[in-house]
Amino acid sequence: MVGMWDDGRLCHGGDYNPEQWPAATWREDVALMRRARVNLVTVGVFAWSRLEPAPGRYDFGWLDEVLDLLHDGGIRVALATPTASPPPWFSLAHPDALPVTADGVRLHHGSRDTYCAAAPSYRAAARGIAATLAARYAHHPALAMWHVHNEYGTTCHCPHTEAAFRRWLVDRHGDLDALNAAWATSFWSQHYTDWAYVSTPRATQYLGNPGHLLDFRRFWSDTLLAAYVEQRDLLKAANPAVPVTTNYVLGDWVPVDHARWAREVDLVAIDHYPSVVDGGAEEQTALAADLARGWARHGHTRAATPRGPAGPTRADPPATWLLMESAASQIHTTGRAHTKEPGRMARHSLSHVARGSRGAMFFQWRAPAGGAERFHSALVPHTGADSRVFRESVRLGETLDRLAEITAGETTASVALAWDAASGWALRHPGMPSALLDGHAELAAAHRALWRAGYGCDVVVPGDPLDRYRLLVLPALYLADDATAGWVHDHVEAGGHLLVSYLSGVADPHARVHLGGYPGAYRDLLGLRVEEFHPLAADEQVLLSGGGTGRIWSETVHLRGAEPVGTYVGGVLDGRPAVTRHRVGTGTTWYLSTRPDDGTYRRLVTEAARVAGVDPVCPAAPPGVEAVRRAAPGTSWLFLLNHTDRPQRVPADGLDLLTGVPADGEVTLPAGGAAVLREHPR
Ligand code: GAL
Repeated sequence: MVGMWDDGRLCHGGDYNPEQWPAATWREDVALMRRARVNLVTVGVFAWSRLEPAPGRYDFGWLDEVLDLLHDGGIRVALATPTASPPPWFSLAHPDALPVTADGVRLHHGSRDTYCAAAPSYRAAARGIAATLAARYAHHPALAMWHVHNEYGTTCHCPHTEAAFRRWLVDRHGDLDALNAAWATSFWSQHYTDWAYVSTPRATQYLGNPGHLLDFRRFWSDTLLAAYVEQRDLLKAANPAVPVTTNYVLGDWVPVDHARWAREVDLVAIDHYPSVVDGGAEEQTALAADLARGWARHGHTRAATPRGPAGPTRADPPATWLLMESAASQIHTTGRAHTKEPGRMARHSLSHVARGSRGAMFFQWRAPAGGAERFHSALVPHTGADSRVFRESVRLGETLDRLAEITAGETTASVALAWDAASGWALRHPGMPSALLDGHAELAAAHRALWRAGYGCDVVVPGDPLDRYRLLVLPALYLADDATAGWVHDHVEAGGHLLVSYLSGVADPHARVHLGGYPGAYRDLLGLRVEEFHPLAADEQVLLSGGGTGRIWSETVHLRGAEPVGTYVGGVLDGRPAVTRHRVGTGTTWYLSTRPDDGTYRRLVTEAARVAGVDPVCPAAPPGVEAVRRAAPGTSWLFLLNHTDRPQRVPADGLDLLTGVPADGEVTLPAGGAAVLREHPR
């Protein structure tokens, strides 16, 4: 099945919007795509108003022609359903399907995503256009996969949503007693005596109920998933052989539980746009890719992934996913677009490929002259093909072609970072003791520490098998039910090591606090009890023994068997434990009661990894050189990415697939460049 999109090569291409251009440009596009070795393009993402200009009146002529042209050019198509942007006629005919914000404002047509995913008329129209596309194109020879919708993530508070939310709550809680208990509604007179009294969490006078907000997030993730699944089923019914996916948008504002969704897609696909420039873009890229690989392990692709052309057969094929969108040349920071330096786009692409992506795709193929995103970067920029960006994209196409064999390898890691969407959502509640809490930032800080120390890591969700990992890290994994606590305990009892950061295991799945001392779910494993929190001001830091600092958070930690590794220096916590270590069986558990500065965090994970017997991927790699390994039985591939502006020498052996030059004991990476070594049999 997945073979339809797999021609043994890595994918190169991106969003292609022929509807924005005259037919003459389509021909030039196909010629340029061939030059850049583009082999997959996403077509039709926002084309609904051009496909169905009036209700029930279709215009497929242009799409027929484009698909044929692409097919003749040997370029495969991820054909999108255009449901992320209903046409103006739809919004006019169905004002009840326009989304309503939490404070009751109904949004209007004029951008994209102006629909409510719970509105029956929207869902019917979305099924309608999906089924019409399926009937026409399900057997088109250019069709490699279906791309449903675009970046599911927008929310709504209209009456349709409210009714659907109540139905979901009845399913989840059974009766109102259970809901009242879960949401602790005796607080502030919120006790419900009729389902009709329960609304979505609208704008209200003061703090909303944490359980209510959390359930709304879960409900909305399920609602969006149902909208996806009904389109997927229609597409599958038309031709079961064609894989179906949707592109994930990342960020903990997104009300989507991506791990849960992964079971419903044939291929996990993510869009990734770093939001910071210096260094941080590379770290964010690595984290996004590690997240995607973690989700892919839950998906169908694992079972269905084909072998690479030269790869060995193996019982357990690598978890494959696809970078569906990235930016050819810009990093959009707050208020400014930073132009990527030469070579940076390729390094970002290779970082994704090293971590399991089946290629590197971009938004967008050609920069449009008009429209809201006219200044977004593209593989073919406004300047045209005679441009640095297009030349780099041609080089990337060549690079990706040389790397086809690496798809046989699995990205290796002995450290697991645990993450679940609901913990991130719960930490955002405004009634938390600090407004600085940000689950995704805690995940990123732990990942950054590991990344900078050179360790590979997998991102897992509670319940995932842990047998291959020596060290499990819980970065503010706030919610813990019995199953999650049992999962962590089992890991330690089996001899695994554990590193826990503050606020992990503090609350149950309804965001109610586990009583008796924090962190209720893990205090026995950690050999301590936290009595009080001391959140820090945004500009405040605490000194730690050993010279480091802590930010955001500090705590009164009482030892119950653990030993201090670092203590607070000065202030009310002077001399008290800040970082602790505890022996449990043959494993060690570590606790961080504050957010250490990056250098301290890095030293701590290095020590925890050393004790756990875990080595960095390439211990001799100099600072600024990222190393990632993919391995298959008998073979491995070492990706070395030089993020510095100087050439770097790295002790290594193997054949550099990018240059064809053997590395015998050492490889020199050009400034900002990369090497991918097929290592000698290991
Ligand atoms: C993505 C989206 C694209 C485009 C891009 C710009 O999130 O899917 O359609 O808007 O962002 O960065």
